[in-house]
Amino acid sequence: MAEMAIKKKRPKNLDIMTIRLPLPGILSILHRISGAVIFLLLPVLLWLFQSSLTSPETFATFKSVVGNPLVKIVLLGLIWLYMHHFCAGIRYLLLDLHKGVDLASARLSSKIVFVVSIALTLIIGAKVLW
Ligand code: HEM
Repeated sequence: MAEMAIKKKRPKNLDIMTIRLPLPGILSILHRISGAVIFLLLPVLLWLFQSSLTSPETFATFKSVVGNPLVKIVLLGLIWLYMHHFCAGIRYLLLDLHKGVDLASARLSSKIVFVVSIALTLIIGAKVLW
């Protein structure tokens, strides 16, 4: 009975647009989304790589497709997803080792993840795509 009364009094906010997540919360959601997207895209990416290597002609076709600026932007987005997942993954492994679990450190490390993953994306994009 007492449990029911407590449950009734708990505040609820189901309006997702009014929820303001702190940076570590945004990082956490992006880590989950990036993990799922990488997982789902992995077979497609492997198939694309394999198809591109079947003959010099298919390689040339893929090269010209990747030369399209729109395709480059999509690929840059995918590189960022992976870099975000990688950097956030290292942060989670450190948290699992109880490193940086206090609020200030957790906020700082999430900022570092965003800065480092964007920097790595730009470096890799510049080297591989342009
Ligand atoms: C092919 C590459 C990868 C795929 C497909 C992948 C996929 C996933 C997925 C689906 C999750 C579950 C996310 C969730 O539901 O919260 C996950 C979690 C995780 N990934 Fe990855 N991942 C990949 C690479 C990596 C790499 C390179 C790292 C290393 C830094 C990493 C570190 C982690 C960690 C630590 C978690 C657990 C996070 C937690 O405690 O909530 N992953 N990954």
